[in-house]
Amino acid sequence: MRLFIILKAIVRLTVALILGPIVVIFIILAIATGIAPLMEYYSSSLDSKALDRDELLKQHPEMFLMSIPAEVNAASGGRPYMIMVRMTKPNTPNTDLPPVIFPGGLASNLMTMSRHQDELTKRGFTVVNFDRLGVGFSDAYDANATRPPSALDVAKEMNYVMTHIDGINENTKWIQVGGSMGTNVSTAFVCLFPNQLCGFLNLDGLPHAFLKIQCKKFLKDGKDIMGVMKKIRWTGLLRLVFSLALKPVLPIMGDTFTKRQLIGTMCREQFFTATGLEYITLMSCCDLECAAWGQQATTELDNDCLRIMASLEPDESVIVHESKGIKREITQQRSKSELGSRYMKRQDPEFVTFESKFDAMALRQPEDVDRNKTHCNWPQPTPSHPVGNYVGGVHNDTIIYPLAPQFKTMVVRIMCARDYTGLERDYTQEARNHAAARCTLQSLNCNNAKVYYYPDLSHLNLWQQVDEVVSITLDIARAVREQC
Ligand SMILES: *[C@@H]1O[C@H](CO)[C@@H](O)[C@H](O)[C@H]1NC(C)=O
Ligand SMILES: *[C@@H]1O[C@H](CO)[C@@H](O)[C@H](O)[C@H]1NC(C)=O
Ligand SMILES: *[C@@H]1O[C@H](CO)[C@@H](O)[C@H](O)[C@H]1NC(C)=O
Ligand SMILES: *[C@@H]1O[C@H](CO)[C@@H](O)[C@H](O)[C@H]1NC(C)=O
Repeated sequence: MRLFIILKAIVRLTVALILGPIVVIFIILAIATGIAPLMEYYSSSLDSKALDRDELLKQHPEMFLMSIPAEVNAASGGRPYMIMVRMTKPNTPNTDLPPVIFPGGLASNLMTMSRHQDELTKRGFTVVNFDRLGVGFSDAYDANATRPPSALDVAKEMNYVMTHIDGINENTKWIQVGGSMGTNVSTAFVCLFPNQLCGFLNLDGLPHAFLKIQCKKFLKDGKDIMGVMKKIRWTGLLRLVFSLALKPVLPIMGDTFTKRQLIGTMCREQFFTATGLEYITLMSCCDLECAAWGQQATTELDNDCLRIMASLEPDESVIVHESKGIKREITQQRSKSELGSRYMKRQDPEFVTFESKFDAMALRQPEDVDRNKTHCNWPQPTPSHPVGNYVGGVHNDTIIYPLAPQFKTMVVRIMCARDYTGLERDYTQEARNHAAARCTLQSLNCNNAKVYYYPDLSHLNLWQQVDEVVSITLDIARAVREQC
């Protein structure tokens, strides 16, 4: 067995040593001779047809453009702009089910979770998915606009979409299903537009450690990488990389959109510009969220509190991987984010003591929120609030609603998958504790919450579990119905 592993490693190394340089030489030749750039030129002209909005609207009667007034979003450069909305309705609408809103994640667009959308619609949900300013099929940023949208901007844009959908009453409460950054956009929305959501599916929102420990690196790397990618777009290299990277994921995205549309949107200049700017938007949303948790935000807690929160057992630890055919199974396996060898239970004396202390820390009134203080370790010499003068880009008179009372009003389900492989491999234990603790923060503040850990999945695998996301959304709807 041992010998076999060694032999396999030798074969792999030899293949890599011989094939690696050949591939590199081949790529350099393809670029130098102009073949690859020519192919890229040709591909991008095919993209323009596939991504043409008029064509798209003809093919997709469920999609439409919505005009957003200039004042909604300060990053619009002072002009109104068009965003693309995809609204799917069931054949027989189920009036028991709240509508679902999907704010997209970083570097994704309304196609990324289109299969989740379609499956939810088959179960009776009306689902609204949209691209923010600059993202996917929405208008690109104004050439002169350099200021990223703040949390306030994206929350107002989300509110505008939700209140301007034909056929959905303004008093209707929604379920939000935001993947990754999408769930942070929704949290910013809750801070500024309270009592609009009845259900909250937290699909592994960004851990607080990114604000405190990783922020500088995350922002700098993100912006630099997008800048470089924009410059080398002409070589055709990115299309190759994206095609290879997306290959295993394409079947998950279903066949509502074509492969050319899925990859083409990622090869346009607009994609790199928007992603580059949205790193700050994401941080701005998180900064606002932390302000609205106040003392309870994990960035504010000492190591002892963090340890206790990170050790609380999840409601379910789940092994699943739909595209690998691994069926859902409940396990005792711990996620790598957690501490120690034993789960702490909510009724353990140490936890009970902690919980009563923690409850007392909750902010109750908008006046309690400190809008001056940033929770993010922004790279210097950026001002303490890179977007606007206050946290989240809010104004001096914007009301920020504390999150603790808001979370009491919603049914909350949290899916957490950080297996600390790949880019997350070098995370310190402190950073991992932040990831686990943020789940506890929300579940302790809610009367109807469940936390699911996925010890074998990474953040990037999690959204791909379509059945899991659909069944948890159905569970939210069921719990909302029971509460009424
Ligand atoms: C950008 O700004 C310059 C000068 O401020 C102006 O001449 C130009 O028209 C602007 N471009 C757009 C697309 O607004
Ligand atoms: C991002 O939003 C999710 C969902 O609310 C939350 O769990 C997470 O803590 C947020 N991240 C930060 C850094 O605030
Ligand atoms: C926040 O800053 C403003 C001015 O920038 C100041 O007037 C106000 O007192 C500050 N509030 C707190 C709570 O520090
Ligand atoms: C908010 O700022 C405006 C100017 O930007 C100022 O006129 C107003 O007095 C401020 N309000 C408060 C409550 O500080």
